[in-house]
Amino acid sequence: MQGFVAAIYLVLFAAPSTFSSHGIVAASPIYNVINYGAIGNGVDDDTQAFVKAWGDSCGDSGARGTPTLVVPGGKKFKLSPVSFKGPCKSSSFIVKIDGTLVAPSSPSEWKGCSADSWLVFQDVANLNVKGSGQVDGQGSLWWGGAKNNNKTVSQALSFFHCINLVLSGLQHINSPKNHISISGCDGGTISNLRISAPETSPNTDGIDISSTNHLNIQELNIQTGDDCIAINGNSSYITITGVSCGPGHGISIGSLGEHGISDTVEGVQVQHCTFTGSTNGARIKTWQGGSGYAKGITFDQITLNAVKNPIIIDQFYTNEASSVAVSNVTYTGFRGTSASDQAIILSCSSIGCLDIRLDNNMITSSTPGKTVTSWCKNAHGSATLTTPRVRCLLK
Ligand SMILES: *[C@@H]1O[C@H](CO)[C@@H](O)[C@H](O)[C@H]1NC(C)=O
Ligand SMILES: *[C@@H]1O[C@H](CO)[C@@H](O)[C@H](O)[C@H]1NC(C)=O
Ligand SMILES: *[C@@H]1O[C@H](CO)[C@@H](O)[C@H](O)[C@H]1NC(C)=O
Repeated sequence: MQGFVAAIYLVLFAAPSTFSSHGIVAASPIYNVINYGAIGNGVDDDTQAFVKAWGDSCGDSGARGTPTLVVPGGKKFKLSPVSFKGPCKSSSFIVKIDGTLVAPSSPSEWKGCSADSWLVFQDVANLNVKGSGQVDGQGSLWWGGAKNNNKTVSQALSFFHCINLVLSGLQHINSPKNHISISGCDGGTISNLRISAPETSPNTDGIDISSTNHLNIQELNIQTGDDCIAINGNSSYITITGVSCGPGHGISIGSLGEHGISDTVEGVQVQHCTFTGSTNGARIKTWQGGSGYAKGITFDQITLNAVKNPIIIDQFYTNEASSVAVSNVTYTGFRGTSASDQAIILSCSSIGCLDIRLDNNMITSSTPGKTVTSWCKNAHGSATLTTPRVRCLLK
């Protein structure tokens, strides 16, 4: 009895927000996948249970509180490729993942599915995906070239057409391709994730963003075989703070303008990030023959530990007339070491990179006693208080 009373107190004081002003319990409706037949032994396929739980929870009006799809901890749920599609009836939606979601280990088990992604959330507004769980893409056979239905790779977790997405707390491992892909979204925060795959795994970007505006990314730890974060075309106002990256290919704007398309990226702020043993730090990468622009980009307070290309703009320029225009890019407060001799590379097409500013940067070699240099082509702007000296930008 005492335990029961204590439990009541615990509920009263630990979760006052579940009580309305009238003193009536208004707990969020919970849709636990176990109650829909999920087994969670890592062997049986639990996809249908998740689909049923999604159907019910997405159809909940939200009148009793925000519907919450619960994946309990201590269990491993094997899922085939599946889409969780909205719009849902409630104006907001919570997915709480404390257990492990695991992909089929063999691509042939993807059952003829031609999806680009293993798990998809689509057209859901105010979606909050959180928890202490793990999302395991079982990528190793895909990395070795295994195929399903002629498809060579698939990304693990995708969000399409989301408004105000919140994603936090989870651990993402071993995706066949991109771990997290965000496309066609507006608004949102991604925070406190750990993302990891072996340094040798191909195309395993941490977070891949495209056609998305107003996204806040903070406090992530990313170790992969490709870009830690890639910001692709038609994206704007993306802020990245407190990301620790490496091994991996760094934080990349692009590739933009591939196959002659027009891509635009504007208003990217990367600050207080640390790169360790990555192939790039701050990278802007465009293809020749494309069009559009990358502008209004700042990298500030960046710590480098033996990074191969700490600062790099690479337009792959040979002789094509058109290219994505790069302008108004600022690099400030870089501190640390470069693993290659050329710490700063500004390699631009004939239209030139304009208004490139470097100020207060100090990059030295990770090999004691060695000096590092910079290299430019068609770059314009200014460099102050920066080591190595960037001669092409000195007035
Ligand atoms: C896979 O590709 C081969 C050769 O291009 C083609 O003949 C076959 O129909 C494709 N299979 C599927 C399932 O798409
Ligand atoms: C950006 O928009 C252009 C024009 O609408 C389109 O051709 C291009 O494919 C888009 N890029 C991406 C990455 O979606
Ligand atoms: C350059 O970009 C910054 C954001 O990084 C923006 O505030 C500023 O207005 C831009 N300047 C010009 C001349 O476009």
